[in-house]
Amino acid sequence: GKSGYDHYMLKEIHEQPRALRKCLRERVDAIERTVDLDLEGLDDVSAIHLVACGTSYHAALYGARLLRERGIPAQTFVASEYDRASLAGETPLVVGVTQSGETADTLGALRTARAAGARTLAVTNTVGSTAARECDEALYVRAGPEIGVAATKTFASQQIALHAFALWLSEESIGSDRIDALRALPDQVQAVLDDSDARSVAEAYADSSAFFFVGRRHHQPVALEGALKLKEISYEHAEGFAAGELKHGPLALIEDDTPLIAVVTGDDEIAQKTVSNVKEVQARGAPVIAVTDGRSDVEQYANHVLEIPETDPTLAPVLANVQLQLLSYWIAAELGRPIDKPRHLAKSVTVK
Ligand code: M6R
Repeated sequence: GKSGYDHYMLKEIHEQPRALRKCLRERVDAIERTVDLDLEGLDDVSAIHLVACGTSYHAALYGARLLRERGIPAQTFVASEYDRASLAGETPLVVGVTQSGETADTLGALRTARAAGARTLAVTNTVGSTAARECDEALYVRAGPEIGVAATKTFASQQIALHAFALWLSEESIGSDRIDALRALPDQVQAVLDDSDARSVAEAYADSSAFFFVGRRHHQPVALEGALKLKEISYEHAEGFAAGELKHGPLALIEDDTPLIAVVTGDDEIAQKTVSNVKEVQARGAPVIAVTDGRSDVEQYANHVLEIPETDPTLAPVLANVQLQLLSYWIAAELGRPIDKPRHLAKSVTVK
């Protein structure tokens, strides 16, 4: 059942600390500073293609950046766009990211890859799923069953499974800071859940005419994910994009009833660039909701702040996304939507 929550989605959002602990268990060795995944035959990977749909595609974008940061060429493809031409001249490892393991578009992309001679890996939540059976190897994200159509805990677990995969695959040594940050993450997610002001922010803005989500670098995938989650369960118009793209078009849509939700952590030049984008939007009269660890001066230009604890820059998107999930949930709740079963959508899309 829903264990006292009004919706499975809210229950599953709250299950994230536990899901992440399970995802990391016996995979991260704090003393040796190693990551150990039970995967075979993947030791000479020279390039990676990640294929996925929807929320899983956003997790794949997050994972691909981490792989590239550790020197492994990695590209992400929307599974339905993946074809022979995507494989031109390369025989990469092809990673299907799919919580259900049954998404037709993702299975199709994996089959295309296999037909071209590529090795395949399924990153999935479902033991025995078609993706797990058809791929050479499977990496289980261990989120536990997810009932809500909106993917929440499976997304966080995919992020962390892909994070572990990037650390495992790369030759570079893993610093103790990263290991400590990974191990601290479940408790930090719990802190976000305990202290979030997302409900009151949602109540103030549920009637807005559109919502824009922005983030830069590590935060760009969660900007996309924040918008997808909101449109899926609230039926409101929402768009997510790289913060730098604002001035290349979307800025024209900014009005006083189109909140900007900006994810800004740290205080480096990357953060400062996003703060500049935020300033431009606020100067044009739109309300700004900043998801931040409080290290930059973004709060000065924000009408509301959703705070997250400080962590490694590579893990901040996981914490920021929890605030975005809660914001979407409470906006949809305020609007009285059928949150666990949005119209026109299915939990697992088994047709192309
Ligand atoms: O089972 P999969 O991870 O392959 O599903 C992919 C998408 O259909 C899925 O993530 C969808 O976008 C979610 N309903 C979003 O919340």
